[in-house]
Amino acid sequence: MDSEAEHSLQSQPAGETGFGGSAALAMSRHGMIGRSDAFQRLVDRIGKIARTDACVLVEGETGVGKEISARAIHYLSERRSKPFVPLNCGAIPEALVEAELFGHVRGAYTDAKTARSGVIAQARGGTLFLDEVDALPWKGQVALLRFLQDRHYRPVGQSAELVSDARIIAATNRPLSELVEAGTFRSDLMYRLDILRLTIPALRERKSDIPLLAGHFLAVYCARYGQKPKSLHPASRSWLMHYAWPGNVRQLESVIHRNVLLCDGDEVLLDECAAQPCADTARDRTSFQRAKALAIAEFERSYLLQLLEETRGSVSAAARLACKERRTLGKLLKKYGIGQRTGTAGLPG
Ligand SMILES: Nc1ncnc2c1ncn2[C@@H]1O[C@H](COP(=O)(O)OP(=O)(O)OP(=O)(O)O)[C@@H](O)[C@H]1O
Ligand SMILES: [Mg+2]
Repeated sequence: MDSEAEHSLQSQPAGETGFGGSAALAMSRHGMIGRSDAFQRLVDRIGKIARTDACVLVEGETGVGKEISARAIHYLSERRSKPFVPLNCGAIPEALVEAELFGHVRGAYTDAKTARSGVIAQARGGTLFLDEVDALPWKGQVALLRFLQDRHYRPVGQSAELVSDARIIAATNRPLSELVEAGTFRSDLMYRLDILRLTIPALRERKSDIPLLAGHFLAVYCARYGQKPKSLHPASRSWLMHYAWPGNVRQLESVIHRNVLLCDGDEVLLDECAAQPCADTARDRTSFQRAKALAIAEFERSYLLQLLEETRGSVSAAARLACKERRTLGKLLKKYGIGQRTGTAGLPG
């Protein structure tokens, strides 16, 4: 197999049901799985972006696949034999941000006993993945912008300038334009980063990927724990298709992982089915009462998600907008497993 083919992203033909073990067959070398139209468009765009060298801004909710997509761009590109260097911008203290990006010479700080290279040097010839770029301290934003202007940088404590051709891929789960408006992100840096944009749709917007991903994670975790292959109970399948997945693919993976550990039989009945029932079997649908209850539940869940998005996760503001008491709204959020701090849910149950 040539390296292009080895790294190519695969997707399952639309006709397959996907909940079976065939999911593993749809896995590519770097593990991106899907078959929805939205996934196909994502894969096409990743392929196009990989043929270029420009900065990329990857946008999407938490756990949606921003890092795995950035890795796919790198490994599909000419840079694949050079390093892919991830940096979590949210984890760098402001005082160390320049040293982290550009490195430092020996003695640059009291405890800098040896020289250390920064991520920009480490990613030379390859790709620097700036995760959570929205959380990059202001000082880091200034330094990064300066580097992006002419690709020159200076390690802390060194007078000579160096050059790096590292490709920059930045990821954010909050639209940078909102942060620019709020005055916490530099607009000039946003424009530098946002040359090619890759927006990864939430899992609930590409539901036909759920069976494939669930089947894949099921196979992976059964194999990891030396268990014989298992299948999903019909109620589990229904639950998986109806849950809102605020934590996206990462949350789906955790749900399957946990249930593989807990389930003794050959058929996995998710714990979540009991904690948050949302079955829509034919039997359930035929009852008017049940169909009405399901429609209300679907409405309430999407209403709440949209409300919290509008208020950026503030439950008090959401309660005011919805003309509901905060406590009542809190109960509803809990019912649907929607987290109250960020507007995203924790795991149900
Ligand atoms: N299409 C996919 N196929 C298979 N696995 C996937 C896919 N998308 C995401 N994953 C898996 O889901 C998990 C989360 O993905 P990733 O870390 O790329 O998300 P993220 O958007 O960077 O999350 P965060 O916002 O929390 O940083 C990883 O374990 C990843 O391998
Ligand atoms: Mg990430």
